[in-house]
Amino acid sequence: MSKPLNIGMIGYGFMGRAHSNAYRKVNNFFDLEYRPVLKAVCARDKAKAQAFADTWGYESVETDWKKLIARPDIDAVDICTPNNLHKEIAIAAAAAGKTILCEKPLAIDTAEGEEMCKAVEKAGVPNIVWYNYRRVPAVTLAKQLIDEGRLGKIFHYRAVFLQDWTISADLPQGGAGLWRLDAAAAGSGVTGDLLAHCIDTALWLNGPIQSVTAMTETFIKERTHTLSGKVEQVKIDDACAFLGRFSNGSLATFESTRYARGHKALYTFEINGENASIAWDLHDLHRLSYFDHRDDSIIRGWRSIHVTDGDQPYMKHWWVPGLQIGYEHSFVHQVADFLEGLANKKPVGPTFRDALETQKVCDAVLASGKSRQWVEIG
Ligand SMILES: NC(=O)c1ccc[n+]([C@@H]2O[C@H](COP(=O)([O-])OP(=O)(O)OC[C@H]3O[C@@H](n4cnc5c(N)ncnc54)[C@H](O)[C@@H]3O)[C@@H](O)[C@H]2O)c1
Repeated sequence: MSKPLNIGMIGYGFMGRAHSNAYRKVNNFFDLEYRPVLKAVCARDKAKAQAFADTWGYESVETDWKKLIARPDIDAVDICTPNNLHKEIAIAAAAAGKTILCEKPLAIDTAEGEEMCKAVEKAGVPNIVWYNYRRVPAVTLAKQLIDEGRLGKIFHYRAVFLQDWTISADLPQGGAGLWRLDAAAAGSGVTGDLLAHCIDTALWLNGPIQSVTAMTETFIKERTHTLSGKVEQVKIDDACAFLGRFSNGSLATFESTRYARGHKALYTFEINGENASIAWDLHDLHRLSYFDHRDDSIIRGWRSIHVTDGDQPYMKHWWVPGLQIGYEHSFVHQVADFLEGLANKKPVGPTFRDALETQKVCDAVLASGKSRQWVEIG
């Protein structure tokens, strides 16, 4: 008989759906000691929250996250709200002794993130941040290949995350659906939203980044704010490109924008080592490209590994070899790993402390974008 882990989820938007789906599926595919129970969902609009609860099977609804956290029948708080609410909710949840699953980026900035780390560590509560791309099987396989030393010494890390949805100057900023354009709610633009994913993956695959130099731009300087109705300055970065040096001596280039016409969510990375290179593309997420210079020269070339076999990461839990899975499964994998960690009483990354490292890189990138100088990451 599995042990229940009563979930209280705050926010029911894009991530609220992705997480709820993962909680519902995880025990069907993974053999786990714990079982998430959809106890309560919290959002400010009761009718909408109730409709969400009915669709996804939550037992109850709250409209004030403080009430949700105070409930003794909630074991774990899942933070799916805009970024500016992560800190206050996480610190309150830690003080109440709750397990915490927090969406990325961890916080608005490093200072907030430090406070959050201290709070969860003082309370001794299990915690994780939803940098889900680590758990796309092809990305996990990339980690395995690097850790096995197949690439040899790594020289280059190259990542991009491109979108095109904010090009229109008529798009307002702020409020439901558009909080990402409002610096007060989001903290930053593409750096915290998109590059944070690229940076988390990079730190995980290739170790710490020591220093960065960045270029940022806000193409549309003013937009009407949905909440105030007034035209206000846009304070987020619309685009960001930065160079970095990893501690292992390799060089990095990262680029992100919401102005790359034709790209909806093109996250790609390529890593070049002395023996081999790997490349991954979110649009083809079940494939990992691999080139090994040690292959016989007459057959040497890029191979496209279809990551669907039972001996490849996570795939034994799904269908038969050759049948692929998708984006939503990365969240199922994260829940599965987290629940296994709870059962074994072992932290599962990325913890708040791991995510703080990504936050430090983001802050350094934004600072460099302003100063136009190289910034060292402490
Ligand atoms: N891991 C990923 O790939 C990924 C993808 C998208 C978003 N995110 C992160 O997830 C978080 C949420 O993003 P989203 O895309 O789901 O946003 P969203 O706008 O779709 O949903 C946000 C939700 O928060 C709720 N909310 C806002 N203020 C609230 C309050 N005071 N009390 C209770 N609920 C409140 C809103 O009603 C809404 O349901 C952000 O931190 C974002 O960066 C992560």
